[in-house]
Amino acid sequence: MKKISIALTAVALAVSAGTVSANCDSGERVVKFSHVTGGTTHPKVVAANSLAERVNKEMDGKLCVEVYPNSTLFGDSKELEALLLGDVQLLAPSLSKFGSYTSKYGVFDLPFVFNDMDHAIRFTNSSDGKELLREMEGYAGFVGLGYWMSGMKYFSAKKPLTVPSDASGMKFRVQTSDVAKQMIRAMDASPQAMAFSEVYGALQTGVVDGQENTWSNIYTKKFYEVQDSVTETNHQLLAYLFMTSSDFLNSLSKADREQFVAIADEVTQKANQSVKAKEAANRANILKAGGKINVLTPEQRKEWVDTMKPVWKQFESDIGKDLIESANNA
Ligand code: LMR
Repeated sequence: MKKISIALTAVALAVSAGTVSANCDSGERVVKFSHVTGGTTHPKVVAANSLAERVNKEMDGKLCVEVYPNSTLFGDSKELEALLLGDVQLLAPSLSKFGSYTSKYGVFDLPFVFNDMDHAIRFTNSSDGKELLREMEGYAGFVGLGYWMSGMKYFSAKKPLTVPSDASGMKFRVQTSDVAKQMIRAMDASPQAMAFSEVYGALQTGVVDGQENTWSNIYTKKFYEVQDSVTETNHQLLAYLFMTSSDFLNSLSKADREQFVAIADEVTQKANQSVKAKEAANRANILKAGGKINVLTPEQRKEWVDTMKPVWKQFESDIGKDLIESANNA
C-alpha cells in the first residue's frame, strides 16, 4: 500500500465505504478493520490508524489494512457476525458487547470495580486477565489480540446529575450489557440498549434522556452538544477486545503471522500507554467547545458507589466471585 493511503482512505470513506480498496496494490491481501468510533483524537481511531500505517509500511506488498471508522462498514450489531463470515478481519468492539457469547466479560462492566485505568491495565496484565483475552477462542474462532483501553465512563443527561436520585425516572442509553442494564435500574432509571451510531440522534430527539461514556466518545460524537452536562462519576471502564479470526491468522504464512502479531502487540502497548493523555485532552476539548462538566464531592461520589455496587452481587454466579475479586484487587 502506498504511504498516502491512510489519508486517502479517510477521504474515500467520507464519500463511500465501497471505494477504499482501490488504495491497495494488486497482489496485496486486503485486511479490513471495522470500528464504530470517530474523530481524530479518539484512542481507538489513533490505534487502528497506527496499526494500518505500520502493517502497510512494514508488510508492504503482503498485507494492506483498510480502516473503516464510524460504523461505515459494520455497526455494533453486525460486526462480530461479519468477522465470522470473513467479511472483515479486524475489530475492536467494547467488552460490553459480548454478552451473547460469554458472561465473564461482565467483570469489566461492574460499576466501581476499577479505580482508574492503571488499575484496569494491571488486571488485564494479570494471569486472569490474560486468560480472559483467550475467552472468545472457544466461540467460533475469535482470537483476542489485545485489550485496548478507552477510558473510565461518565454520565451525561438532559439535566445536571449530582446524586443518583437525580436520575430517577430517566431513560439512559446503554450498550448491550446486562450489568449496565442492572446498574441503571439500581438508579431507579430505565436502560435502553442501542447501537453507538444511534446515540446522538436519540439524545437529540429525546428518545433517551442520557447516556454513559468516555470523554473521547462524548467529545468526538458531540454528545455534550445535546446534553445539559456530564457528571464526573468515573463509575465504569470502557475497554475493547482488539480481535481477529483464527481463519484469518491461519491463512497467513508462519513468518507473516508472527510479524503481524508482533506489530499488533506493539501497537496495543503504545495505545494503552497514551490513553490517559488522550482522555484528558478530550475532557479539555469538551470544556473548550462549551460543554459543562459536574465535578462531584467525595460525599456525592459515595452515593453513586453505594447505589451501584450492590449490582456486583447479582452477577456473582455468572461472572464468578473469584474473578470479581481478582479484578477488584489487581
Ligand atoms: C459505545 O457503544 O458506547 C462504545 O462501545 C463505542 C466504542 O466503541 O467506544
